Amino acid sequence: MNLPAHVWPAGASRGADGAVRVAGVDLRALAAELGTPAYVLDEADFRSRARSFREGFERVFAAIGTHVDVYYAGKAFLCTAVARWAHEEGLRIDTSTGGELAVALRAGVPGADIGLHGNNKSDAEIARALEAGVGRIVIDSLGEVDRVADAVRSRGDGRRAPVMVRVTTGVHAGGHEYISTAHEDQKFGLSISGGRALEALRAVLARPELDLIGVHSHIGSQILDPSSFEVAARRVLELRAELATLTGHLMPEVDLGGGFGIAYTPGEVPLDPVRVAKDVAGVVDATCAELGTPVPRISVEPGRAIVGPTTLTLYTVGTVKPVTVDERLTRLYVSVDGGMSDNLRPALYGARYTAALVSRAAGADLVPARVVGKHCESGDILVHDVQLPADIAPGDLLAVPATGAYGRSMASNYNHVPRPPVVAVRDGVARVIVRRETEQDLLALDVG
Ligand code: LLP
Repeated sequence: MNLPAHVWPAGASRGADGAVRVAGVDLRALAAELGTPAYVLDEADFRSRARSFREGFERVFAAIGTHVDVYYAGKAFLCTAVARWAHEEGLRIDTSTGGELAVALRAGVPGADIGLHGNNKSDAEIARALEAGVGRIVIDSLGEVDRVADAVRSRGDGRRAPVMVRVTTGVHAGGHEYISTAHEDQKFGLSISGGRALEALRAVLARPELDLIGVHSHIGSQILDPSSFEVAARRVLELRAELATLTGHLMPEVDLGGGFGIAYTPGEVPLDPVRVAKDVAGVVDATCAELGTPVPRISVEPGRAIVGPTTLTLYTVGTVKPVTVDERLTRLYVSVDGGMSDNLRPALYGARYTAALVSRAAGADLVPARVVGKHCESGDILVHDVQLPADIAPGDLLAVPATGAYGRSMASNYNHVPRPPVVAVRDGVARVIVRRETEQDLLALDVG
């Protein structure tokens, strides 16, 4: 069984003995030393995806005479090591809570290179962002305009806060309703068509404590249709021109959000971010010419496209059980030592993944299989439908690729299962960057 390059970490390869190595680290040795389950993150792959995303976007937008800033969306996966790598590769960090902000700051990322989002920011989060001097706070409701402005005023240091306003364009995009964010009936941003976006922008301009640097549009996640980005860009640029006509304030920047889709299974084709950049840059250039406004500075916020494919989850096989589905189909249920607590996406979104035996070569033909976890729930499925060797047995190692985004970051302790570590692999060396949680950690929270 080969490992399709568009789904597995770039450094993954199967040796002559059938065992898989990532960045020169044998997964059998990693499992023996650090245990399973574990998220295994290919550092060079992360860095190269971050760098090539940034360089690709910079090149494309330079061609229309503007600059682009790439913010790594920390919600996909954030820890201090990853924040540092992203920053070293020239990306800024997008945070959506005080917790993510704390990680970015602990990593040593300067406040000016951090953005703060959130549809329900607390006063403490706003205060902390101002204290850190973040590069922008993205305002998500009308009420937040005065809250941020008042917080700036109460600091009394005379510094204005750079803010953006998050708007919704009515473009419905993304892999699942729960991760689609710019249609009308949902909680994020302010609607352009209903006039609320303009109202909030004017409210920002009325507060001298705030510096309105731009408008923000994130239309959804796991988007595989590039045209959604173009439609959204056009609507946002029209809004920018309208505000300039009405008030004389031309916002210097437009953020087009994240959402670039990746391949989870061999049959899927990932979105090519640089191709999207080219198409969007064309639309930005033409729309600005039409509207008679200069091309703005651009920013984007990819999360999944940077970290998703860099990581696999390594499991040990436990129970293997043939289940007769009907007279034509017997499915092999392969239970592993993790499950929906380390990857919620199949249960939450019906997300599809693939899996492979990684500790040895197959000793038998492939048969229809389903990879399930150890939780007390029949929906605890990691991989719905995959071909695995019929001789797969307890003790074998199994890996599920493309789990870097929204895997560890959405992990839970369901059934009091401690969350797995994140192990970075590079040049033949494995390094724990987030340690395994222990039962002691969980018991320590229980104060009677
Ligand atoms: N910017 C904003 C404002 C966002 O809300 C998001 C994602 C991103 C950037 C990054 O999107 P990405 O490039 O990673 O698609 N838990 C879901 C995804 C939720 C995404 C939420 N916002 C999943 O597992 O598919």
